[in-house]
Amino acid sequence: MANSVAVNLGARSYEVRIGAGLLGQIAAQITPLLRRRRVAIVTDDNVAAKHLDTVLAALDQAGIAASALRLPAGESTKAWPEFTRTVEWLLAEKIERRDIVIALGGGVVGDLVGFACAVLRRGVRFVQVPTTLLAQVDSSVGGKTGINSAHGKNLIGAFHQPSLVLADIGVLNTLAQRDLLAGYGEVVKYGLLGDEAFFDYLETHGPALARYDGEVILKAVTRSVEMKAAIVERDETEEGERALLNLGHTFCHALEKATGYSDRLLHGEGVAIGCALAFEVSQRLGLCAQEAPSRVRAHLKAMGMKTDLCDIAGDLPDAEALLALMGQDKKVVDGKLRFILARGIGQAFVAEDVPPDVVVQVLKDAQQR
Ligand code: GLY
Repeated sequence: MANSVAVNLGARSYEVRIGAGLLGQIAAQITPLLRRRRVAIVTDDNVAAKHLDTVLAALDQAGIAASALRLPAGESTKAWPEFTRTVEWLLAEKIERRDIVIALGGGVVGDLVGFACAVLRRGVRFVQVPTTLLAQVDSSVGGKTGINSAHGKNLIGAFHQPSLVLADIGVLNTLAQRDLLAGYGEVVKYGLLGDEAFFDYLETHGPALARYDGEVILKAVTRSVEMKAAIVERDETEEGERALLNLGHTFCHALEKATGYSDRLLHGEGVAIGCALAFEVSQRLGLCAQEAPSRVRAHLKAMGMKTDLCDIAGDLPDAEALLALMGQDKKVVDGKLRFILARGIGQAFVAEDVPPDVVVQVLKDAQQR
């Protein structure tokens, strides 16, 4: 039995199905979308090694022809060369507007394939099959697609909603603990931004999720997707409220740049640290109680996650340099730094003009902890 969350966007509406074993049922899941019994799959080498055979066998058994492109695994794939290769491959495979492309993988594959489908023949339908916790709770839902530029991450892209998302939580058992916990950074974000009861639940049950408990993972992914779907329905193209999903991300993007998008800091780890710092800034500005940032940090620590700047291996630039890196974030509006701050756990809001000296002081203090 899978949970189902609807993303209601008029003609672009779709379902996110969440459950264990969906990869093996992929043929039945996608058949209603097919206008001919043929699909193209784009994945990466790591995911292909673990899951492609399951998907190909399930499709073959149902008489659905499939061809697959394997991209190199890793963030550097999310750029023009592999994007061009993917679009040209889909054209060579004669994928037409009425066809379905399957994005099988984590955020890199989902973002790149979604963007390829946005531009291929001016728009081809695609199904997201996210294989990481991070992609299941965030990047596969909501239609943000794109690739990176030398100028920054995700600067080239389009809104292009998938036709279906199949989040097979069974595949998360094959994730390394570090990758599972990095994805959990985005899960915690949902509680922190809009649902204190969910954060309470995570404080109690998060450790079971870290032990790959299927029931807790199902609940955590479902609640995260429900929250994301509701926000995307109200603000599909991020004119306002959708920016709340960027809680922790301004700090995260600066830290990712400072660590060269390397293994020193995974995206979800940066989000978790960024959430803790955003609560610290909120408290310094008198917006939330003193206990709130301590409670955030205590939970991340209890989960064995990176919580503070000192948890990042190696040297970091000083606080002023980190602030300068935030200034290059694409969410800068009219030269002002936009932060997502909070009035308490579950009460985030968009703050347009945060005093830079407070941010610098928070970063300085974090570097000395
Ligand atoms: N990952 C943030 C968003 O989809 O808006």
